[in-house]
Amino acid sequence: MKSLRDKYGNWALITGASAGIGEEFARRLAVEGFNLVIVARRKDRLEKLKQQLEEKHKIEILVATVDLLSENYLQELIEIVGERQIGLLINNAGFGYRGQFIDAEVKNDENMIKLNCIVPTALTHHFVKPMISRKKGGIIFLASVVAFQATPTTSVYAATKVFNAFLSEGLWYELKKYNIDVLSLNPGGTHTEFQQVANSTTGPIPRTTQQVVNTALKALGKKPSVVDGLYNKVLAVSSRLVSRRIAVTVAGKISEKFYKKN
Ligand SMILES: NC(=O)c1ccc[n+]([C@@H]2O[C@H](COP(=O)([O-])OP(=O)(O)OC[C@H]3O[C@@H](n4cnc5c(N)ncnc54)[C@H](OP(=O)(O)O)[C@@H]3O)[C@@H](O)[C@H]2O)c1
Repeated sequence: MKSLRDKYGNWALITGASAGIGEEFARRLAVEGFNLVIVARRKDRLEKLKQQLEEKHKIEILVATVDLLSENYLQELIEIVGERQIGLLINNAGFGYRGQFIDAEVKNDENMIKLNCIVPTALTHHFVKPMISRKKGGIIFLASVVAFQATPTTSVYAATKVFNAFLSEGLWYELKKYNIDVLSLNPGGTHTEFQQVANSTTGPIPRTTQQVVNTALKALGKKPSVVDGLYNKVLAVSSRLVSRRIAVTVAGKISEKFYKKN
């Protein structure tokens, strides 16, 4: 069987690799023998990860200390990547917010929409073109279990995640003729720094980053979308079996009861 590296190419680029799910993608793809471009703002974290993984796995790692909310982020990233051919793109960096819409800062919502939606769209535009020429590649988008129904008290975040789910599923179809695999990865509550940033909790049955990344790498190339974990699968499926009014009402109740920080 072909290895992931044989299938997609030598280099993977991971946004948000300094923590959580992105860091775990870096660790797993290093084991698979990929050279990595690891992107985030916290340079010390990225340098430490580079040090840990380069020697152990005999791979090359480029640290890209880039604020993806800055005006010139794309140009900065393009310059760092240079001629390297990115075969696997992990659109992972993102953040959430839990609270009433009317209490949120509009700037925070704008930043969330930019980081969670505009950045992955722009990166995909840039990196997919050479993948098309090479007739191989893979792209993973981080959606979420909240992409399956509107979710009150995290309404804007849920909207950004349905954007990722729909974008990646659409691209799964559009790009398969070029031998490019696209996956919408839908985790539920997972132990990372996400909750601290979003003022949220992991909910009743949290998953580990290792479980989430396993789920993703098993599904990539086999289906357009995957939900991580049984509890999250039940949540995602059940919202499809009832009216939208019921789905959003139940989602609101669950959101307030299980995911609100006390
Ligand atoms: N954890 C969950 O429960 C969960 C559930 C469903 C979906 N997700 C999705 O999974 C993805 C990863 O989240 P996570 O749980 O791993 O969160 P996390 O532990 O908070 O990690 C977020 C990553 O994004 C990076 N990042 C944030 N703002 C950035 C910016 N302006 N520029 C560059 N990098 C930036 C952070 O690095 P720096 O701070 O160093 O920049 C960090 O590496 C997100 O898209 C999230 O929506 C998470």
